[in-house]
Amino acid sequence: MKKIFSIILVFALSLLHAQSVKSPSSALEVNFKLVNNGQPSYTVNYNGKPVIVESALGIKLKDKTALNANFEIQSSKADTFNESWKPVLGQKASIVNHYNELTIALVQKETNVKMNIVFKVYDEGVAFRYEFPKQEKLNYFIISDEETHFNLTEDYKAFWIPGDFDTNEYPYNETKLSEIDNAKLDKNTGIGMTTDLGKSRVQAPLMMKSPSGLYVNIFEAAVVNYPVMHLDVDVTNYKLTSHLVPNAIGDKAYLQAACVSPWRTIMISKDARDIVGSQMILNLNEPCKLDDVSYIKPMKYVGIWWEMHVGISTWDYAGSQNAQNLSSQDLIPTGKHGATTANTKKYIDFAAKNGFDGVLVEGWNVGWEDWAGNWKEEVFDFTTPYPDFNLAEVTAYAKEKNVKMIMHHETSGSVANYERHLDRAFDLMKKYDYPAVKSGYVGKIIPRGEFHDGQTMVNHFNFVARRAADYKVMLNSHESSRPTGYSRTYPNYIAAEAARGNEFNAWSNGNPPSHETILPFTRQLGGPMDYTPGIFEIKMSFYDKNKKEQVHTTLAKQLALYVTMYSPLQMAADLPESYEKRMDAFQFIKDVALDWDDTKILEAEPGDYLTIARKTKGKETWFLGAITDENARKTEIALDFLTKGQKYKAIIYEDAKDADWKNNPMVYKIRTVEVTNKSKLNLVLAPGGGTAVSFEPIK
Ligand code: NOJ
Ligand code: CA
Repeated sequence: MKKIFSIILVFALSLLHAQSVKSPSSALEVNFKLVNNGQPSYTVNYNGKPVIVESALGIKLKDKTALNANFEIQSSKADTFNESWKPVLGQKASIVNHYNELTIALVQKETNVKMNIVFKVYDEGVAFRYEFPKQEKLNYFIISDEETHFNLTEDYKAFWIPGDFDTNEYPYNETKLSEIDNAKLDKNTGIGMTTDLGKSRVQAPLMMKSPSGLYVNIFEAAVVNYPVMHLDVDVTNYKLTSHLVPNAIGDKAYLQAACVSPWRTIMISKDARDIVGSQMILNLNEPCKLDDVSYIKPMKYVGIWWEMHVGISTWDYAGSQNAQNLSSQDLIPTGKHGATTANTKKYIDFAAKNGFDGVLVEGWNVGWEDWAGNWKEEVFDFTTPYPDFNLAEVTAYAKEKNVKMIMHHETSGSVANYERHLDRAFDLMKKYDYPAVKSGYVGKIIPRGEFHDGQTMVNHFNFVARRAADYKVMLNSHESSRPTGYSRTYPNYIAAEAARGNEFNAWSNGNPPSHETILPFTRQLGGPMDYTPGIFEIKMSFYDKNKKEQVHTTLAKQLALYVTMYSPLQMAADLPESYEKRMDAFQFIKDVALDWDDTKILEAEPGDYLTIARKTKGKETWFLGAITDENARKTEIALDFLTKGQKYKAIIYEDAKDADWKNNPMVYKIRTVEVTNKSKLNLVLAPGGGTAVSFEPIK
């Protein structure tokens, strides 16, 4: 009798400790429970079926306090939110933020440490984070590990890149979880920097598909004052564990309560379109903190850039061999310097003639002789131009032509040096009226030992965005940690690279044709990417007959990327000459919008294909982009997204009949048809191909 009574008591207590919360549609359900000896844990069900089975939650501190057991629930609170907000620039004019929330306030028995776990459950996914209320015990604390588990039940197909703490510029591997093995990586495809990648440590977002066709994506949102989370994969049991990026001495994060961890996110859907279209990562970030957003504008730009990547010109003025101990006056020009006053004027003319907003110039400032390879700490000062680049003349010329200049700050990883010079660098930009800067972090971080994805660098990237806002400057960072929605809070952080961009196609074995069908499921969930599409001269043998490198798409697919890869900052990356030869196709790049009232994800399958239609902000024009991987594809698209009763002129830029990315990438066709919202379009995409369509209302 006594035994039965105690069983009933244990059952009643466990009920008391089990808390649950469902998504607004009820399809997703999270259950929180203290298990074993007061260990926080959770499960996630989708339509009643387990997706995440019992998974422990916890944090370990350096002082040996283990915040992963001995907890009691102090209180719990459920809430629901349904609001919408208007991004300054975005994929939609208004974004719905609708979720149910559960806050569990925990207290640890012996230490009395208080820790809350907060769940937000959206229709397309679950988010949770740790919160540390203000308390004596955690006035200052060091996280030595976060032990957040994501225990899956099946051998999912995963789209993964290795857990390199310094770079995300890898092509994706498409294997089962059980086949993840960093030792088997193709050494030619990565630019690996962190020596110890672990056997099966991967980066997030980790996009997955279950054998039965369920799409699951694990990522994070609002990484602020915290390191990036990578994931350790237990390849036998399909269990994933958070792996925070360490600092130079192995610590993970220095914090002070009250504070919070980033949100850990698990998107789940039967329909891959829900994941590409999700605004959940942005929603989980703080609202805009800027009073004045008037200077934050979309920008279509050209620049002195691709010509260096294809080897026609150089960033440096004097060649990298002999410059080490010379002052800038002593440098002997090689004659191949790209960023000259005359060349910049040529690009400004081209931008003005074709209605572009901006011109980027890389290699304008002293230091490029020593930037990569010599790894000096004081390599750039971000204010001293080379003798053949006249800042005053160039910027006056741009102003006359109504074109904005885009500044370039390559740091070559020397971050403390950049911070020391930052205010002077922004002052110079203000003096010459530069509205935007592209930053770069090539190479290992100086101070040595820090990683690109550690807390110090996360803080640096966020700090530069905030400081740029003080100067009313827009920021586009390259080689930064990947964004996790901070652009909602600081919308002047207009774009980032933070993945393998188009540039790899110029000088490496490049990005496979599936690459651009994966990025919208991974990197781009956190914010706009400066992918730099628009390469028309696809084969590098055009520049040097011995070169084998090429872009791994057709020309028409390069056009479609302007629609499928959302960014309010878009480059037309090729040389003016390449466009001047093909002005008919270039017309699409001139026309395509950068800021949108609405976005419709029409078809999506990670690694295979993607079709997106978007409506221009404040206008009746629409644009459609359809892309495929290495396989040809036929599809019929219903245009029911167009306004009822309105006729449109549709201009279709498509692969010519015998096009294919490898052997015949540059053949395209352009046709014009009249359509309404009742019409259907038959699209035929070549292997590695794409289609771009503009819809202009007929008056
Ligand atoms: C790498 C960047 O991604 C690229 O855009 C830039 O041209 C070079 N670094 C030099 O800064
Ligand atoms: Ca890069």
